[in-house]
Amino acid sequence: MAKNELHETAKALVAEGKGILAADESTGTIKKRFDTIGLESTEDARRAYRDMLFTTPGVEEYISGVILYDETIRQSGHDGTPFPQLLEARGIIPGIKVDEGAKPLAGAAGETVTEGLDGLRERLAEYYELGARFAKWRGVYSISDTKPSEYCIWTNAHALARYAALCQEAGIVPIVEPEVLQDGTHSIERSEFVTSRVLAALYTELFDQKVDVAGTLLKPNMVLSGYDASKRAGIEEVAEVSLHAYYKHVPAAVPGIVFLSGGQSDEDATAHLNAMNARGPHPWQLSFSYGRALQTPSLNAWGGKPENVEAGQRAFYHRAKMNSAAQTGSYAPEMEREAVAV
Ligand code: 13P
Repeated sequence: MAKNELHETAKALVAEGKGILAADESTGTIKKRFDTIGLESTEDARRAYRDMLFTTPGVEEYISGVILYDETIRQSGHDGTPFPQLLEARGIIPGIKVDEGAKPLAGAAGETVTEGLDGLRERLAEYYELGARFAKWRGVYSISDTKPSEYCIWTNAHALARYAALCQEAGIVPIVEPEVLQDGTHSIERSEFVTSRVLAALYTELFDQKVDVAGTLLKPNMVLSGYDASKRAGIEEVAEVSLHAYYKHVPAAVPGIVFLSGGQSDEDATAHLNAMNARGPHPWQLSFSYGRALQTPSLNAWGGKPENVEAGQRAFYHRAKMNSAAQTGSYAPEMEREAVAV
């Protein structure tokens, strides 16, 4: 695999005004999402839901890539076209979640390490054949007075780098996702400290394991006050403090930072991204790789009913368009009220 191809794929994923849809919920996670609309999580319901999202008219203007789950990359749209080919035909790059989840870390009560390295080389070769050109692996860290431990930070960084090196060998762009959860009562300063520690360890391991960071994307948390903090930082402070952490710890050779939404409201996730881009230009593109913040209004509008497919698509199109505006720093909350025709 020519390095250039990795560089080109990474750059295409963060093309101006575009970002990524994370639709890689595991079977357990999508069941939780379907529970919120009272829908049973059958294989066909999951297929129909993803089909609705992926066939939204016009959304390729705003969506560069979609992260799929193992089941989804093997499924097809209602016309029988396999999802990876259906996306490709619209100029959207198929991706794949390859980690096998965060599991308890031995000797570290309440902390996790992400598993999935065994057999990964073979799985990546198969995913490449199925059409995947980028991948995702998520390490998870929680914040308390004593967490995360250095042990948890370094163990996850090591695994993220092993995953990234294997992806590049397979011609697949690795999205490295170290997610510091923002649950709790912590201050934004504590979140910045933890996020910085996590990023410093990650880039040390990526360098040591010979990963070409120009052929990667970073998918971090934004730096927020804890969701239950008594005093929570506003949009401008979040933008300033988040950028401060990335400027210190993310190499300029990384083509893009694509954020997770992490349980923020959809409009907050958009406003934060916009505020960071409004302070640009930056060394990297700043874009989105949202799951919930792109999907929740669409899931609710759809409600599992075939007659609501168009309403679900309109809601997805609207959030994609708002986040596209935020990618160029040209979003304004008033745009939320503009009618969108699909
Ligand atoms: P959220 O945007 O819902 O946090 O999901 C993004 C993701 O891919 C988490 O791994």
